Amino acid sequence: MKEKFYITTAIAYTSRKPHIGNSYEIVLTDAIARYKRLQGYDVFFLTGTDEHGQKIEEIAKAENVSPKQYVDKIAGEIREICDLLNTTYDRFIRTTDEQHEKTVQKIFKKLYDNGDIYKSVYEGLYCTPCESFWTAAQVEDGKCPDCGRPVKPAQEEAYFLKLSKYQKQLEQFIEDNPDFIYPESRKKEMINNFIKPGLQDLCVSRTSFKWGIPVTFDDNHVIYVWIDALSNYITAIGYDPDGSSAEYKKYWPADVHIVGKDIVRFHTIYWPIMLMALGEPLPKKVFGHPWLLFGTDKMSKSRGNVIYADDLVKQFGVDAVRYYLLSEMPYTSDGSIMYETIIERFNSDLANTLGNLVNRTIAMSNKYFGGKVLAPTAKEELDDELSSLALETVGAVEKLMSEYRISDALNAIFTLARRSNKYIDETMPWALAKDEEKTERLGTVLYNLLESIRYLAVLLTPFMPDTATSIFEQLNTDVRSYESLSAFGRLVAGNNVGTATPLFSRIDAEKFLAELIKQQEEEQKKAETPKIEGLAEIDFDTFTKVELRVAEIKECEKIKKAKKLLRLVLDDGTGTPRQVVSGIATWYEPEALVGRKIVLVANLKPAKLCGVESCGMILAADCSETDVKLIFVDDMPNGARIR
Ligand code: MSP
Repeated sequence: MKEKFYITTAIAYTSRKPHIGNSYEIVLTDAIARYKRLQGYDVFFLTGTDEHGQKIEEIAKAENVSPKQYVDKIAGEIREICDLLNTTYDRFIRTTDEQHEKTVQKIFKKLYDNGDIYKSVYEGLYCTPCESFWTAAQVEDGKCPDCGRPVKPAQEEAYFLKLSKYQKQLEQFIEDNPDFIYPESRKKEMINNFIKPGLQDLCVSRTSFKWGIPVTFDDNHVIYVWIDALSNYITAIGYDPDGSSAEYKKYWPADVHIVGKDIVRFHTIYWPIMLMALGEPLPKKVFGHPWLLFGTDKMSKSRGNVIYADDLVKQFGVDAVRYYLLSEMPYTSDGSIMYETIIERFNSDLANTLGNLVNRTIAMSNKYFGGKVLAPTAKEELDDELSSLALETVGAVEKLMSEYRISDALNAIFTLARRSNKYIDETMPWALAKDEEKTERLGTVLYNLLESIRYLAVLLTPFMPDTATSIFEQLNTDVRSYESLSAFGRLVAGNNVGTATPLFSRIDAEKFLAELIKQQEEEQKKAETPKIEGLAEIDFDTFTKVELRVAEIKECEKIKKAKKLLRLVLDDGTGTPRQVVSGIATWYEPEALVGRKIVLVANLKPAKLCGVESCGMILAADCSETDVKLIFVDDMPNGARIR
């Protein structure tokens, strides 16, 4: 019987369309799941969406739709992106699924009945966007430690999970299972920052909003997101306090939860304790991966530096995006994404190293032998180097994958591709082809290359599945299994290869980037307000709809790819920084504006200018055809309404 392997991603919030950073996780998990399947495991791969909470309730309200309508839309987009990225999840759970909701209610009730959940009053500092309460010690300068936005004192009746009761048991578990929190650096962080200082009981219900799973025995309360969200890993496969499904019994405990570094805490402290309280086995491993940044910045809509998976797939193709994400992300430190580096890696690794190798080899097989694969009968010492490396690569990849060092595993595969290219340079098939006596040797050289390419295709299957299929088709071989890598030479001689089809065509970086800027400028033009010819009268009510406020410029910088634009971060008196893009770069240096106060149109619909989100507009006067001056209101308080 096949050994089971249950793997999960974190379930994504449905507050907005996910950016490429969020999408990294599903690709990473997919590569691991596919690799395990290739090795013969019975894999169950779970992903899904986390759909409850105050933030979603608020966004839906602002968009004039019901929370359910809103999450249906975003969950649909998230699933589309998972599919677009060619990920092979076995189930997509939504926390609004009826089955999930019912089971979470039962879980909550069971924990309450067992005395692990109790009712009390919560007092603390609350961050609304993060839906988190913080203690005074955790908060610095009145700002949320997670997102940096202001917190406010709050008090509410709530249910609590007794984390403190399980402190010792959790410590013991972590000690007995040294690989549970993985990698080591995250484990140290959890132990030193959260476990050692002592666990506080966790607030697990809310009365301040409605968009959550109701507590069955107390109408005022909804279950707070972490109990709801974390339970997905067991509800999805049929856990039920009254009797679980066969599927649950088969797959639980999870072999690995793949989660981002920011939520390792929830998965290695709250989740194990919830399971201990339920009397269920604990997951074997929680792998906390690093984050993908835009250059060195956190990707966020408010910073206007968001890149989306669907745009990238359109521009580069799905496997190139998968390759970039998987190879560029280091094991523990954060990775970075920028168009320039994507193109660089595309050209050097995919087009040159891999693409050329396959193309040259298939083309030479067709040219010199009419496509026929000859048996390797004229071996030379040099060949051993290639075949040994191919065999070693299988072992190296296996070890690296077992340690979740995905980018290192990919690098090992590409080392084999580079070695194969070197083998072409060393053996010079074109020279062998000129000498009739060397025909047998030429046949052997090409055989070795084709076999090495077959190794590459098998090994690349989990990472770049379409590319692997294309290589197999060009090789015209069905020998695609993992077991076929146990000996070098399994490619069947006597068959014919297919036609050479380029895998990746080089991208002209300059042309691509120029086109990108052009597109962004067009977007900007579209967003610009058309000039009004003559004066159209408006009534007073229409005027009062425009919300004008005093705002202070806290940060200001040029936007690299748009000569006319400045990006400003404003204090508009609400406490939440606001980003605005303004076409005033011709007239103002960024440094000169920091600290100045201007008039902000605060309720203008957000728009993207040159790919950067602008939430509002600042007022300026056209002093002449070529001169524009901002309206400064330096002695007014931030946020003051202008009427
Ligand atoms: N809903 C919670 C998870 C609940 S799991 C029971 C959540 N959702 S999220 O949408 O904010 O994040 C989903 C995953 O994406 C998390 O693992 C998070 O760490 C990860 N990432 C968010 N931004 C990321 C990058 N920029 N780069 C890589 N992963 C990132 O947290």
